[in-house]
Parts: sequence; structure tokens; C-alpha cells
Amino acid sequence: MKKEIDPLLAANKNINTERSFQRSFVLAEAKKVFVQDSSWTQHGPSHWLQVEKNAVMLGEHTPGCDLEVARLFALLHDCKRQNEGRDPDHGARAADFAQELFDKGMLHLNHGRLSTLKFAMIHHNGGQVSDDPTIGVCWDADRLDLPRVGTTPDSELLSTQYARDLLKAKR
Ligand SMILES: [Fe+2]
Ligand SMILES: [Fe+2]
Repeated sequence: MKKEIDPLLAANKNINTERSFQRSFVLAEAKKVFVQDSSWTQHGPSHWLQVEKNAVMLGEHTPGCDLEVARLFALLHDCKRQNEGRDPDHGARAADFAQELFDKGMLHLNHGRLSTLKFAMIHHNGGQVSDDPTIGVCWDADRLDLPRVGTTPDSELLSTQYARDLLKAKR
């Protein structure tokens, strides 16, 4: 079966440009369960796609990052947000949704990668940092999109060196 070439990665010859997860399918499933109005929410598909771009950029500069897990995080982490304000459990609900997709055979991950993905989602809004390159890229990719809501990311709350360097260069 011919594998799909990934346009987000195709420009970089140093990393594999073939996808083993069905990105368009995962994105469609996330959109199906998202209950907010995508035309004005700050937490909908346009944010997910920006987080995905950030994840690819950070992942390219973060040795050991599992880029597919980071991209799944980007597409799924906020799909269960129910409002624009306080919704502390939306990451846990997103992790449950990822488990559902996995149980239906729709995510091509082993249990270890699923567990990393779920951990990143459950704790993404908990104000933590991580030494794990994949979890760090997930959280930094999300935090680098904070300017969309008028908030400057705090470098103390960034996990990866590349995200901290980027933030410093913008100041
Ligand atoms: Fe979130
Ligand atoms: Fe987010």
C-alpha cells in the first residue's frame, strides 16, 4: 500500500516524511466531537493545526521526540473542551477519547506510545514542565500558541531548549 507523504514534513529531508497515522481521519474524528463553534472559539481546529505546526518545528530540534505522538496530541488535546473559560478536565476527557479511538483500532500506536499521548493530554493544562522530549514538545507546542489569547508564554513553563530559544529570540 502506498504511504501518504506528509506535506508538513516534506521540506525537511532529515526526517521521515511518511505518516503511519491517519492524520485526516483523526482530525475528522476530533472535529465530530468538538461541541464549540469553530468560527469563533480560541480552542478549536485552527488552534489544533497551529499546535501541530509548532510540534513539527520543535520536534525537528528535540532529539528523542516521538513526532507522531506529538502531532496526535496537537489534533486531539482540546477536542473535548466545552467552553472558553475554566474547563480543567478537558485534557482527561481528550485522553479518554484517544483511548476510544485506540480501542477501535484507529490509532496505530503501541501501549507505551498511547500512554505517553494520554499523559501529555491529561496534564497539558496543569502548569507543569517535562524532561521527556515527546511530552515537552507537546506542551511547548501548545504554550507557544498562547499569544492567540493575548498571553505571552512564560519561559519557566517551557520544557524544551528550542522553545526557550525561540521565545528569547522574539523578545
Ligand atoms: Fe487545553
Ligand atoms: Fe491547546
